Amino acid sequence: MKNKVLLPIQLCSKRFSSTLPDKLKTLNKFNFPIQQHSFKSINENLNKFLNDKQLKITLNGHVHKKTRIRPTLSFGFIRDIDGNVIQFVTKEDTPIEICDTIKELTVEESISVTGFIQQKLLAEGETAKWELVVEDLKILNESNIDAPRLDKLKHKNPQDLPPQFRYLQLRTSFFQNSLRVRSKIAQLVRNLLIDNHDFVEIETPLLFKSTPEGAREFLVPTRSRNQFYALPQSPQQYKQILMSSGFTKYFQIAKCFRDEDLRSDRQPEFTQIDLEMSFVNSSNQVMKVLEDLILKIWGKFKQQPMYVLGESGNLEQIPTGDQSHSNFKNLTYKEALEKFGIDKPDLRSNLSFINLENHFTAIENEEFPIVEICILKNAFTPDSKKHTKVPKALIDNLEYKRRKPYVFTMNNENDKSDWIGLLINKKFMKPTESYNELKLLYSLNLQPGDIIAVSTRADLPYENPTPLGKFRQIAIKEYPTKWQRPIQEQDSVINEYPREDVSVASWVVDFPLFNPVELNEEDSFAPYPKYDYSKYQSTHHPFTMCKLEDYDYLETSPLKVKGEHYDLVINGVEVGGGSRRIHDPQLQQYIFENVLKINNWELKFGHLIKALSMGCPPHAGLALGFDRLCAMIIGSSSIKDVIAFPKNQSGVDKIVDSPTSVSEDTLKEYYIKVNDDNEKL
Ligand code: AMO
Repeated sequence: MKNKVLLPIQLCSKRFSSTLPDKLKTLNKFNFPIQQHSFKSINENLNKFLNDKQLKITLNGHVHKKTRIRPTLSFGFIRDIDGNVIQFVTKEDTPIEICDTIKELTVEESISVTGFIQQKLLAEGETAKWELVVEDLKILNESNIDAPRLDKLKHKNPQDLPPQFRYLQLRTSFFQNSLRVRSKIAQLVRNLLIDNHDFVEIETPLLFKSTPEGAREFLVPTRSRNQFYALPQSPQQYKQILMSSGFTKYFQIAKCFRDEDLRSDRQPEFTQIDLEMSFVNSSNQVMKVLEDLILKIWGKFKQQPMYVLGESGNLEQIPTGDQSHSNFKNLTYKEALEKFGIDKPDLRSNLSFINLENHFTAIENEEFPIVEICILKNAFTPDSKKHTKVPKALIDNLEYKRRKPYVFTMNNENDKSDWIGLLINKKFMKPTESYNELKLLYSLNLQPGDIIAVSTRADLPYENPTPLGKFRQIAIKEYPTKWQRPIQEQDSVINEYPREDVSVASWVVDFPLFNPVELNEEDSFAPYPKYDYSKYQSTHHPFTMCKLEDYDYLETSPLKVKGEHYDLVINGVEVGGGSRRIHDPQLQQYIFENVLKINNWELKFGHLIKALSMGCPPHAGLALGFDRLCAMIIGSSSIKDVIAFPKNQSGVDKIVDSPTSVSEDTLKEYYIKVNDDNEKL
């Protein structure tokens, strides 16, 4: 009889007696037959297995669900590594000890079952046409009482299992599959980059140096006084040094670390497919490699074509055969912000904004003069007896960092123009000299059933997303089947398609190289961001080259300079980003010193200037967010679904319970003293 463990899981380490476990029982757990045939191979050659009762089959796996006990027959369920569930049964002459063991089985225990295969009538939801008649069964390790407690959740939605039981989540077919897909994508990427494109995979150090690259970094103390490493936010500087080291094509599937606010598409520790190429004289050479990679990944794992936004506003399929001419279309930052209010628009939707600056000027804040509107056509069915309110989700305060747009439902003919008077009365906007209500209403063509959102933006917005951009994102999420862009197939146009079937890629280019420093970033109650236009920060990182035609502006008006940067956006997700780099050391020094005004730049970046000064060739590169890419391939919006051990929203790993405090003695070794006042010094 098995000894069931009944204490709560938190006491796991204390729960067992401190004596050496029973020798026979324990050693037995190490002695078992290995599995020779997979579920797949049995399925494929079922007749061979069915016809040969002497052929002994071993299945090793976990107990999937509660055993069913009948007076003469017992049924158990074993789950293999792919999440396939196979039933095993006893027969009249099964030895009593085995029947007893089966009765005692607890879900999630690891077991080894040996027997022969017999035909099985398929019950609902079952896929295996066979079952195993047990002749021997061994428990290789017991599971404690929490396993049956959690069993319901496992069957309902494995993602709902408590995060401290990540291993139970990971045992389910969803996670087994998602991590398998991730590993296969990595394999494909390696094969393509190494074999087809002649890249060299090189690992760069994880113990790096504290340098201001963009995000907040994780520091690593050493046992030398006041000497710290920092974990890399990306291998950016090392890969540039590699370009100075004679490698013309480098890549790495690299771990990166950023101490930033976490969201469903951000982790403090994540992975990039990072690459860099030297002697490239345009961004196109890097973009082409990436397009090839993305199309091959999509072809193999999504089995879907990739679409781009065509001139007509319809989606056009990129031919999958000859990819030498394929070209994801470019969208400029300005166009993206003006039409969609964000630099990573989901182009599957044709929702875009109409600029009302000919009719109105926004007067709440002079830095945000442009009034713009987004129309959700036929968003609801108008009811003459009842006023339909704006759906809450569209105006949920929590969704908007700062101000919300004004949102109105068009219930009747009056509503079509009432919003104008209301917004003028509110001193939100004033009419311009060319304001013409009739002309405006004619061009907007509002109808009962429409919802409109009106907001403001700067001429070239640094606010990203703008309030209307956020509104568009929410509307797309709330109404996933509406406002889909038509697909242009050869000679016809298709208007209806399930969204999940379509992927739309775009390069976003011509970003401003610098942003003005935002003064009230932390103050989310302030409706408008406030900028210091005399202080600059890099839009991406300080190593990005400017557009060659904007060179002179570096000295006169840095905010006018556009960067040689390109972001890869698929279905509203920033999958990757990269740029041509500054390889001229004097120019790089000028940017650090005179534009970004980085204190002690020599200490922080002297190593890079030195490497550039040794004849470093022109170079460009890019990094793909590997986790985001994998999540997209499996159709998930959370990168946690493709990371074995993700951190939670507070950056905590619930399985090992990290981060933890360390003892005073340990701190002493690192010359670190913790301030007892619970305040930063
Ligand atoms: P960037 O900072 O844009 O560029 O990062 C590249 C891609 O990495 C992904 N990413 C993340 N994924 C998960 N969690 C995070 N916290 C996270 N942060 C970024 C995104 C992003 O597009 N060194 C440059 C690249 C280059 O210039 O070559 C860099 O790191 O998908």
